Amino acid sequence: MSKICLCLTGKTLAHDLEIIEKNRKYVDVAELRVDCLDPDERFRIRRFPEMAGLPVILTIRRESDGGKYQGGEGARISLLAHGLANAFTDPRLNFAYVDLEDYLNVPALEEAARVFGTKIIRSYHNIHGTDDDIVEKLKSLYHVGDELAKIAAMANSLSDVLRMYRASQEMTDMNKILICMGPFGIPSRILADRFGSEFSYTTMAGQSLGAPGQLEPKELSDHYCFKSISNKTKVFGITGFPLRATFSPTFFNTIFKLEDTDAVYVPFPTDNVKTFLELAEALNVSGASVTIPHKTAIIPYLGSQSESVQSIGACNTIISDPRGWIGTNTDASGFSGSLLNFIGKKNLKGKRVTIIGAGGAAHAVAAEVYRLEARALIVNRTAVKAKELALPYGFAWDGLDHHCVEHIKKYADIIIQTTSAGMEPNIGEDPFALYQFSGREVVMDLIYTPECTAFLDRASRAGCQTLNGYDMLIRQAQAQYELFMGKEFPSHLLSRF
Ligand code: ATR
Repeated sequence: MSKICLCLTGKTLAHDLEIIEKNRKYVDVAELRVDCLDPDERFRIRRFPEMAGLPVILTIRRESDGGKYQGGEGARISLLAHGLANAFTDPRLNFAYVDLEDYLNVPALEEAARVFGTKIIRSYHNIHGTDDDIVEKLKSLYHVGDELAKIAAMANSLSDVLRMYRASQEMTDMNKILICMGPFGIPSRILADRFGSEFSYTTMAGQSLGAPGQLEPKELSDHYCFKSISNKTKVFGITGFPLRATFSPTFFNTIFKLEDTDAVYVPFPTDNVKTFLELAEALNVSGASVTIPHKTAIIPYLGSQSESVQSIGACNTIISDPRGWIGTNTDASGFSGSLLNFIGKKNLKGKRVTIIGAGGAAHAVAAEVYRLEARALIVNRTAVKAKELALPYGFAWDGLDHHCVEHIKKYADIIIQTTSAGMEPNIGEDPFALYQFSGREVVMDLIYTPECTAFLDRASRAGCQTLNGYDMLIRQAQAQYELFMGKEFPSHLLSRF
């Protein structure tokens, strides 16, 4: 089973000990990054394992390998020797591991480590990219007995993560640590056990990162339930790019934990949806959420698709099936469920609706507004896109400029804002500033962070009933849960959000 390693990058040993205390319940091992310590502190490292009270890795990383050590090789070897010197017969008082880079050929250090039971981690770092032949590299790192071979390589895309995973499958018998660094590498850190990696390295927030892409110990341990992940654990996830502010991992992992379900939900950031599907198949992913910009791009790779995907032209949920990925769309039902519940109706018969925007989200909204029998006007900054979306439904359309105001007044029972204007990084922007609310409109903004956009705030101050996108988000996630798990969503757990 993989272990959580806490990377200690403090300037003093006292500070590193404080960090251990704050994270003791989440971590199994600590890595003392001697290269991050102030020079005076480096000569006091020998007693650190005793003070730490958990297995400690001794590491002195050079700048060229992503560390902070700037001194010469002679001085670095002396420091390593100092850390391994005067070993006690009680192994808990010695460093449990020493990280020796592949190019460091100092037999005396290895001998000192072996005699007193300090395990050698034979490491290779590539802070720029992932080597072509990972398997050969691993073989070249492997030395004797139970030593660990470690490769930490920057993943410049999800395909680097896929190559690392495939290499891990060829080398299942080897004791190893495999890490894909950077944001693309997050799946390798959460699913370290699947990658056959003995450790997943973490850093506490606020500390300088041991390596790019490291998660926090509490996050990995509590949120992703790292220690319960085994070969039997069902893997779900979300793919999109850049996939920074996504609510879904919190939602699903919280539900899995509360229900004690052996499943984990992992972010797979990628700009290439085909690579995601290859990795998902290799990792036996059971289902995934699909978000911007892949909702349309994924459709050609689906084995089958629901009616909603066909009518909207966008897919936000895939489920694994022996005959290929099944694609569905829960945005649409999430939207209509939320709006109908808000207005207390079963359909939109007789309602006149304005939809602002003509992008992916507007496609799902327009399909539902049509299905629910409303008459609608689509207004968009780029008028031709409004026209393209409106025509198949027989809706009216217009450009989003002052000329459209009179037109909007005829479709003003319900106004639905579907663009990203008003959301990070454009908080405060109001894409509908040209329109004065009468106070009689029901106004919905699909944005949920911030809770109240400038648009929604203006509508609310004019006396309109307003609804943001949070309820829709929860409803579409509930629908995804039901598709993923094949059972009803445990609605009593909703109060946790
Ligand atoms: P999504 O899938 O989230 O809907 P999208 O497909 O990129 O994202 O669509 C973005 C929509 O928001 C488009 O309708 C876009 O208008 P254009 O078609 O003219 O580009 C609209 N949009 C984005 N920023 C906007 C802004 N600042 N003001 C008005 N409309 C905006």
